[in-house]
Amino acid sequence: METQLKVLITGAAGFIGSYLAQRLAKNGYQVIGIDNMNDYYDVSLKEERLKSLEGDENFRFEKTDIADADVMRDLFAEEQPELVVNLAAQAGVRYSITNPDSYIQSNIVGFYNILECCRHSGEDGRTKVKHLVYASSSSVYGANKKVPYSVEDPADHPVSLYAATKKSDELMAYAYSRLYGIPATGLRFFTVYGPKGRPDMAYFGFADKMARGQKIQIFNHGDMYRDFTYIDDVITGVESVMKKVPAEDENGVRHKVYNIGNHRPESLMHFVETLEQCLIKAGVISAPGEKEFLPMQPGDVYRTYADVTELERDFGFAPNTSLETGLQRFADWYAGYYLKK
Ligand SMILES: NC(=O)c1ccc[n+]([C@@H]2O[C@H](COP(=O)([O-])OP(=O)(O)OC[C@H]3O[C@@H](n4cnc5c(N)ncnc54)[C@H](O)[C@@H]3O)[C@@H](O)[C@H]2O)c1
Repeated sequence: METQLKVLITGAAGFIGSYLAQRLAKNGYQVIGIDNMNDYYDVSLKEERLKSLEGDENFRFEKTDIADADVMRDLFAEEQPELVVNLAAQAGVRYSITNPDSYIQSNIVGFYNILECCRHSGEDGRTKVKHLVYASSSSVYGANKKVPYSVEDPADHPVSLYAATKKSDELMAYAYSRLYGIPATGLRFFTVYGPKGRPDMAYFGFADKMARGQKIQIFNHGDMYRDFTYIDDVITGVESVMKKVPAEDENGVRHKVYNIGNHRPESLMHFVETLEQCLIKAGVISAPGEKEFLPMQPGDVYRTYADVTELERDFGFAPNTSLETGLQRFADWYAGYYLKK
């Protein structure tokens, strides 16, 4: 595919969406970003991310909800995007335990609307969507014991509604690819982190507490492992995947799922110690803080670990930013952000 294509990014004020919009606009794509700007976390951070895109003539933003079918239909008819990257979702595992509604609205109804819009995109002489790329999650692996997690492994035992909605998205996308010939690729992201990241995620919450001199809570007594993936690696992965429509499988269906992870699980304690060192270097704290060790939380999984063999085989790429490098960039950004708060 050539550049200068029109791309619709949903969730463009979000962490991953805003970085993707910046990268694609810089690389000459015409980017339309949409987001409903909900207040699940600090809206001013979403606004700050959009500010970095202000003045870029390749980027345009609209405040829109993907769960609104009529608005989405009009948007597709007017904009006629050639590529669609669906990142809009209600994210977060723990929040889904107590707030299931927004997961059904954004991740199920919203994603269904995107599929319907893609399905009807080629009608009445309009441009047909060439490729739909959508965010899934490592949480679909649920309580799987076998590591690393491979896209070949069964993922039928979600431990949260969030995971169940993401797995449902994969199944719905497969059905639409099969029935209506919509080429689609699902990306199972593994704990994405970096500057301007999500305040609801553990690394950000730890930094907030450490900066205020508060005790941090460490679940499963620190015995947990996460495959932390740096934001720039994720964006490189999404951009590579977006450009290549999946080949037909044995049933003639153009649908694929890939893991995007660092394929190097880090122990929670190593992670916390590294974060502390990075925050000390960035001048946010002067010494390691107090810790409270607690049991495992509902919805959490013991370990995430991505097998990226397929990503490497099909795109010659795998994430590789070290935790030390990535967390230092986060801490340096956080120092300025925290001062402003
Ligand atoms: N960050 C991670 O570690 C991670 C891991 C696995 C999967 N994911 C998935 O990747 C995608 C992007 O995640 P993120 O970390 O950037 O999250 P994010 O919450 O920062 O971004 C999502 C954006 O979507 C918007 N949004 C939510 N519902 C919407 C709706 N109905 N209509 C329009 N906009 C809506 C939100 O306002 C937000 O700005 C999500 O689908 C998430 O589930 C993220």
